Amino acid sequence: MMPAMPKPAVRVGLIGYAFMGRAHSNAYRQVNKYFDDLPYEIEMHTICGRTPDKVQHAAAQLGWQHAETDWRRVIENPAIDVIDVSTPGDSHAEITIAAAQAGKTVWCEKPIGNTLAEAEAMAAAVANGGRMSAVFHNYRFAPAIAHAKKMIEAGKIGQIFHYRATYLQDWIADPAFPWVWRLDKDLAGSGSLGDIGSHVIDLGRHLVGEFTSLSGKLKTFVPERPDGSGGKKQVTVDDAAIAIAEMEGGTLATIEATRFAPGRRNYNRIEINGSKGSLVFNMERMNELEYYNAGDPEGLQGFRTINVTESAHEWAAPYWPSGHIIGYEHTFINLVAHAIRCMKSGQRMRPDMEDGLRNQRVLDAWERSNESGQWVKI
Ligand SMILES: NC(=O)c1ccc[n+]([C@@H]2O[C@H](COP(=O)([O-])OP(=O)(O)OC[C@H]3O[C@@H](n4cnc5c(N)ncnc54)[C@H](O)[C@@H]3O)[C@@H](O)[C@H]2O)c1
Repeated sequence: MMPAMPKPAVRVGLIGYAFMGRAHSNAYRQVNKYFDDLPYEIEMHTICGRTPDKVQHAAAQLGWQHAETDWRRVIENPAIDVIDVSTPGDSHAEITIAAAQAGKTVWCEKPIGNTLAEAEAMAAAVANGGRMSAVFHNYRFAPAIAHAKKMIEAGKIGQIFHYRATYLQDWIADPAFPWVWRLDKDLAGSGSLGDIGSHVIDLGRHLVGEFTSLSGKLKTFVPERPDGSGGKKQVTVDDAAIAIAEMEGGTLATIEATRFAPGRRNYNRIEINGSKGSLVFNMERMNELEYYNAGDPEGLQGFRTINVTESAHEWAAPYWPSGHIIGYEHTFINLVAHAIRCMKSGQRMRPDMEDGLRNQRVLDAWERSNESGQWVKI
């Protein structure tokens, strides 16, 4: 048998090796193993962190060829094609803009910037660089979300009246939980708002349409936390965020993003109600999509649960036989597969930096509304 022709390589430089660094590394290791048809082979070239022994360990553990401690050297390396920005938000803009100016492709974590001004500068730099881009709103790539999108486009839900999003976590509900970078505005940009609210803003934009105006409130329940050395440190971001909003086509939306919902670990739930039916997705049961069809005969009406693991379900098919469920990590593998295809075909990658910017406009409007107490246009 003739050996298969090697595929051209896409060489990645990953900045950040912790939570997202591990999720992205897993996606890069797996993507060509499940998606046989991809035009390029991912090469895990360089991983970057600030502490030499830790980044060396991460390189060995996660499967990277080289370890680096200065992201500038990763960008300067002519062998590298893609810069993956998986650091906290305070360095996204600087790394992205430098990478785009050096002619690299940028795949960036969300929210893209810590401020709207940063996001605008990032999107402009990437547009000027002329390369495709990607933003890691990975939930778009859960098979249930892809199926919901198809059903909406096929008119199964009809006119959409409501987008109802509740992204609930509980990891800082205990006031004794120590201070971390996610609780600092300079490092994280915002709290629940940008961290998890941005994901359900993205799902709303993806499934329903643009947000046009909103009234939002932000709240910090625990203003200071143990700093790990006997003292206290200020919390300068929101612990919880709620908003009511209007979307294109007159859809009314409610969005809640909180880290103060005891018992809710990663309860990323959305519900869409339309003239012909409803759809419900909950990340904690990500292999299921609930569907109510208002056209079902009387006596048989009720929500049904679709197990989205059939070969007909996009982003489930490359894995296992029906009913053999997939997990959180597969959403990242799917996103990377899609990015590789878009890189080759020239089809616009969604979500890209432009999506990241539009998302940030909603975050910014939410913060302005919180400050002014007014309903604001987006
Ligand atoms: N898509 C998702 O579902 C999801 C989930 C969690 C976090 N995120 C996003 O991913 C990003 C990173 O979050 P995380 O949870 O992985 O954080 P983390 O704290 O787990 O990891 C951050 C990493 O960045 C490194 N780092 C920080 N500053 C650096 C610098 N100047 N140079 C090189 N490395 C640097 C740290 O050493 C660490 O390895 C954030 O933007 C966050 O919002 C996305």
